[in-house]
Amino acid sequence: MSIILVEGGRPLKGELTVQGAKNSVLPILAATLLSGDTCRIRRCPRLRDVETTMEILRYLGCRVWWEGEDLLVDTATVTRWDIPDGLMRKMRSSVIFLGAILARCGQAELSYPGGCELGPRPIDLHLQALRQLGAEIQEEGGALQCRAETMRGTHILLSLPSVGATENAILAACGADGVTVISNAAREPEICDLQDFLVACGAAVQGAGSSTITVEGRRRLHGCTHAVIADRIVAATYLCAAAGTGGDICLKDVEPAHLSTVTAALSQAGCRITWDENSLRLQSSGALRSVSPVRTSPYPGFPTDAQAVLMAALLRGSGTTVFVENMFESRYRHVPELRRMGADIRCEGKVAVVCAVEKLHAAQVHATDLRGGAALIVAALQAQGITQVGQLHHIQRGYAHITADLLQLGAGIRQEDT
Ligand code: UD1
Repeated sequence: MSIILVEGGRPLKGELTVQGAKNSVLPILAATLLSGDTCRIRRCPRLRDVETTMEILRYLGCRVWWEGEDLLVDTATVTRWDIPDGLMRKMRSSVIFLGAILARCGQAELSYPGGCELGPRPIDLHLQALRQLGAEIQEEGGALQCRAETMRGTHILLSLPSVGATENAILAACGADGVTVISNAAREPEICDLQDFLVACGAAVQGAGSSTITVEGRRRLHGCTHAVIADRIVAATYLCAAAGTGGDICLKDVEPAHLSTVTAALSQAGCRITWDENSLRLQSSGALRSVSPVRTSPYPGFPTDAQAVLMAALLRGSGTTVFVENMFESRYRHVPELRRMGADIRCEGKVAVVCAVEKLHAAQVHATDLRGGAALIVAALQAQGITQVGQLHHIQRGYAHITADLLQLGAGIRQEDT
């Protein structure tokens, strides 16, 4: 069992290069199946979810290996089209293999993915999109049997801009005859990264970043080298940590535009933010003010994944901030843990009201989910005394080296493995 110990009260200072994006690399690794060749994925973060994806690829018959920070995947040989339930349950993103395996093999057998920690996470839109392309999908006892000897390009209208359903539709459409148009597509930067990867492999995908994506299927693909974009949520976490501690940090190799709603909130809270093409600097006095209501919504709105870390940054200081979580039902599980540290937060349904307090104090807390866990660390960095954060496996799903990164920025932090 591992715990992180955080001694609060030190302002974060210095420069840091941000890891590659988890939410980009997972669909891209599934998409390597379409290339039937070797792909080199640069800036691949070493995360639990990446290890699970490697396990899935190996199970399917692919070769996967590290060369420094690059992950190489050779998908020339695929011997299976099923994924065991045990692997499917390890993470939500395993569902993206559905579209990729269908495009490659014309059939797929897997089960419902895991990752229900944020409340119910249906996959009805994924299945609807694949059915529209011509896949026959039977569901029984959580198992999914999918056949699609021929898929045909079509018009897919998503009833809401789901990130995962957009990715599954793009991947399956690459294996369909003719042109597919996806309307009301998710516009997240990670969708653009998936498109860039597929185009580098020779696919005809365009429109990512807008609500309409067009895919011309059945192109002959090949391997490529692709560098994953910076993780905007990890960047947001460190910005919030610096803001809450009165720090001065510069994040390198990030895309400032991807963080605009987060930096707008932090600047309203009193931080000074400056940026150039691919770096972002935040300077904070440590005395933060409350901000206008933070409402999570699909990109380019405020990201649900940054809700918890921004909340943690605004626990101390002055005023009252209202959060409205519109994306997931159970996304305030970090709140009772933050209260243990002296935070004043009231929750009802989608709404959380944070009244800033003068001081936070150390406590024993548990990560309840990935981003909620990171929020506990952001709060602990501001608390008086030594906070112990447990259940680290949640945090390790998305942060490749949070302890080392924060140490580099001068935090009093260490991990203990017992
Ligand atoms: C992705 C991100 C996750 C982020 C989320 C929202 C990855 C690996 N994960 O998750 O970090 O929090 O986007 O930005 O990229 N929905 C349905 N039916 C479906 C699919 C989704 O009702 O078939 C609903 C969900 O319950 C949720 C909303 O749509 O309320 C958005 O979910 P979605 O965009 O699909 O999130 P994920 O792709 O699971």
